[in-house]
Amino acid sequence: MTNIELAAGVYWVGAIDWNLRDFHGYTTSRGATYNAYLIVEGKIALVDTVKHGFADDMLDRIKEIIDPAKIDYVISNHVEMDHSGSLSKIMRIVPNAQVICTEKGKEGLIRHFGGNWNYRTVKTGDELKLGKKTLFFLSTPMMHWPDNMMTYLKEDKILLSNDGFGQHLASSFRFDENVCSLMGYECDTVMDEAAKYYANILMPFGSIIVKKIEEVQKLGVEIKMIAPSHGMIWKDPGKIINAYLRWGKGETKQKVLVIYDTMWNSTETMAKEIVKGAADSGVEVTLFNIRKTDWSEIVKEVLEAKAIVIGSPTLNNGMFPTVGGFLTYLMGLRPKNKIWATFGSYGWGGGGVKAVNEKLKSTGYEPVESIEVNFRSDEQDLLKCYALGEKIASMVKSS
Ligand code: FEO
Repeated sequence: MTNIELAAGVYWVGAIDWNLRDFHGYTTSRGATYNAYLIVEGKIALVDTVKHGFADDMLDRIKEIIDPAKIDYVISNHVEMDHSGSLSKIMRIVPNAQVICTEKGKEGLIRHFGGNWNYRTVKTGDELKLGKKTLFFLSTPMMHWPDNMMTYLKEDKILLSNDGFGQHLASSFRFDENVCSLMGYECDTVMDEAAKYYANILMPFGSIIVKKIEEVQKLGVEIKMIAPSHGMIWKDPGKIINAYLRWGKGETKQKVLVIYDTMWNSTETMAKEIVKGAADSGVEVTLFNIRKTDWSEIVKEVLEAKAIVIGSPTLNNGMFPTVGGFLTYLMGLRPKNKIWATFGSYGWGGGGVKAVNEKLKSTGYEPVESIEVNFRSDEQDLLKCYALGEKIASMVKSS
């Protein structure tokens, strides 16, 4: 596989990490890519690099186009090491190249690599002319870190968006339209991975993302292609921009998730009864055992679910450790516009459900109802659980 030309003089020169299965805790079951782009037009610019260990893949692709020693500008859209991990190798080849980044980006790069490079900091509206091509910079803090920016190729109308609009997906294809259509069957693998990526990486910043997209729309920036630094390049940018607007605003579907762990199946019995009550009321319900399902997959489902019902047994007067770990992860992502409810069981003294409620409340979420039973549910308890499912379904339908 060689470099790919997105437009005349604009090349993908990134790397494919087929075997990545863990991206700082997020399970990447389909691998990942680190997309770098080379712009050759009079002067030469490299936009982003690749994770440490993949520098030679990138350099080999660059060498098929130009001598890397000819690079004039290295644009660092984002400090995080999956994009900047090969910067020092590039800068050893082109020590005089100008490194272009935001002010925050410069601070981060100096912390990682020292202050000897020829830095130029930019903000929204600043431009760099490369012969007939103009690079327009957009500061996009919190897409994904405070330092983030995007680089827009004005004449080609291509947005090099770094983390924004990305997906963790290793493929021999480079464009979203090819991933399914060339396989000869209907699928939406790219959007599925984009949702998982947004939920696990960008969900806390939804409001900022919506404002930034609206700001860019007001600037009248026409986008024909979005080339992120992870995964497939979007030839149909409207599809992913609209999805980001929906997700950022916290739009949901009529969907309930029941997420639990269990010690001796008592909490599980309750969970199944809640599922039955909600399903019989005609809404989509999914049951997840926290110990058996990958957390990043559960979080992907949380993104568009309207109601989240959390179940925990009691252990040592508190919530079950797996529930605690999952809630720490989920609360950090601050899902919006959800209906919350809780349930669980205990043997001696109780406290598991109370601890779950306190965790939710400390993040600003108020459960609409909580059920806690001693040892195992009797007939009355099961009726209560079924009724909770019905109640949640009814709230979801009327929301
Ligand atoms: Fe792909 Fe925030 O790094």
